[in-house]
Amino acid sequence: MTTTATGGRAAIAARTLRTDRWWFPPAIQAFGLTAWVAYATFRVFQQKDYFVTDYNYLTPFYSPCMSEACVPGSSHFGQLLPADLIVGGFDVMRLVPFAVVTLPFLLLFRLTCYYYRKAYYRAFWMSPPACAVAEPHAKYSGETRFPLLMQNFHRYFFYAAAIISLINTWDAIYAHHTHDGGFGLGLGNVILWVNVILLWAYTASCHSCRSIIGGKLNHFSKHPVRYKLWQKVSFLNGRHMLLAWITLGTLALTDFYIMGLAAGWYSDLRFIG
Ligand code: FES
Repeated sequence: MTTTATGGRAAIAARTLRTDRWWFPPAIQAFGLTAWVAYATFRVFQQKDYFVTDYNYLTPFYSPCMSEACVPGSSHFGQLLPADLIVGGFDVMRLVPFAVVTLPFLLLFRLTCYYYRKAYYRAFWMSPPACAVAEPHAKYSGETRFPLLMQNFHRYFFYAAAIISLINTWDAIYAHHTHDGGFGLGLGNVILWVNVILLWAYTASCHSCRSIIGGKLNHFSKHPVRYKLWQKVSFLNGRHMLLAWITLGTLALTDFYIMGLAAGWYSDLRFIG
């Protein structure tokens, strides 16, 4: 028996026949993503309160800190950017994030993520806003043309994100050095480690990661190590949406905690050092 594809949607006058609150998930997603982007944008360009000198806490929004204007001790990978670049009386470097070598890749990694694509296509473009709800657009070309064609580069942004997770891991390790050269452990360290572990979990749960680890194999039985890894990554992959949201939260919370410490709003809870 053969089936014949029919073009377009069923001819029903109603936008949808759904009677549940189908609009609720996209509304929540729009609110959550907008709030996070607003906070992150403000913090990235604020260029202050990102490093706690006493405990070497560096917020992930400024990692690695690559400007000559970075607070002493906060640059672990060099300072490629000048502190100032005056053009027409305006300091252009005010518009350049200190972590400019990593933030664009992290942004593109999340922007091209399979889950976030679903979320923002639904929440902002309403394409479609939910299953079985007609979209307002007359035409649909999917991801076959520029700029959405660029979504196919997600795998390469995954590689960049994995390297950046290594940098975040180094920051968490280095934060155990106190300013007098000893070993320290405080609530800030715990927060940094929780954030890094969850970032690794999100990165490892990426669909590209799962494909890289388990793809192009005809027989898992001949590749037991990759099979084991693929099973673990698949477990995380099933929780990718959850990890996508949790890591947005832990990133913002980690940054906020370090901002508060750096600004002197409160003190770190210290266990050692
Ligand atoms: Fe979401 Fe790769 S699919 S990070």
